[in-house]
Amino acid sequence: MIGVFDSGVGGLSILKYITKELPDYKYVYLADNARNPYGNHSQETVVKYTRQAVNYLFDRGVKLIIVACYSASSLALRTIQDEMLVKKNVKDRKILGVLRPVAEEAAKLTKNKRVGVIATRATTGSKAFETEIAKLDKGIRVFVKSCPLLVPLIEEQWGDKPETRKIAKAYLREMKSFNVDNLILGCTHYPLIQKTISQIMGKKVNVPNIGEIVAKSLKDYLGRHPEIEKSLSKGGAGNTALSNVEFLNTDKIPEFCQLGSKFLGHPITNIKKIDLSEY
Ligand code: DGL
Repeated sequence: MIGVFDSGVGGLSILKYITKELPDYKYVYLADNARNPYGNHSQETVVKYTRQAVNYLFDRGVKLIIVACYSASSLALRTIQDEMLVKKNVKDRKILGVLRPVAEEAAKLTKNKRVGVIATRATTGSKAFETEIAKLDKGIRVFVKSCPLLVPLIEEQWGDKPETRKIAKAYLREMKSFNVDNLILGCTHYPLIQKTISQIMGKKVNVPNIGEIVAKSLKDYLGRHPEIEKSLSKGGAGNTALSNVEFLNTDKIPEFCQLGSKFLGHPITNIKKIDLSEY
């Protein structure tokens, strides 16, 4: 089983592409919707919540966890990997984030070595994208901007409204002057307004599909790590009805299913509420 963890519905925009690219596996998607948004929390809190979610999934027998939340990947991933895997010398479990594959793709795609990133305050404040991209190519300049109003607008399903376009335009005004050739959507929610963002940035700026990047990178990873790949339970059998996905959340199931289906592009059934506070 592959575990995909996010603070809420956002990671479903990534799960959508992972299940398309790798339909043969079984998945469990865990959304901590009782305690989100993570993008406005401190590092200490995000580490604590992420640790509980990862503990829960490992307890369930999950061998590979994708932290699909950028805020959690930025603020908590390194700490959690160190304390749960490296220090304990655990080799048969893995925790991967979304920053690394996206940074790698950005470094590959940029021609003028100017990359923009929009994300939550947690992610921009952590400087995680700047750090990851600098590890790959120190010559790339990274311009970041936090867009905190976009997550609530998208969750209110206001993505198509002119008010949202106006706010996105205001956030991106300065970014447009930086002459970036690629803009990274560094938050799980922003792909839902990708078209609007692309239109605002103009034809010269590429806005890559984040879900596709993460899914392809996971496929590559499994190819390079047969020992992990073999430990994952299969049974999806090319499933398109997503009956190979079990959904878990920590609050309000009907609301999660209603909004989540927009992110996933598929109805959500097979869902159970859990409590992470004991983990
Ligand atoms: N999933 C978060 C992210 O990608 C956005 C929602 C939140 O702040 O919890 O950063």
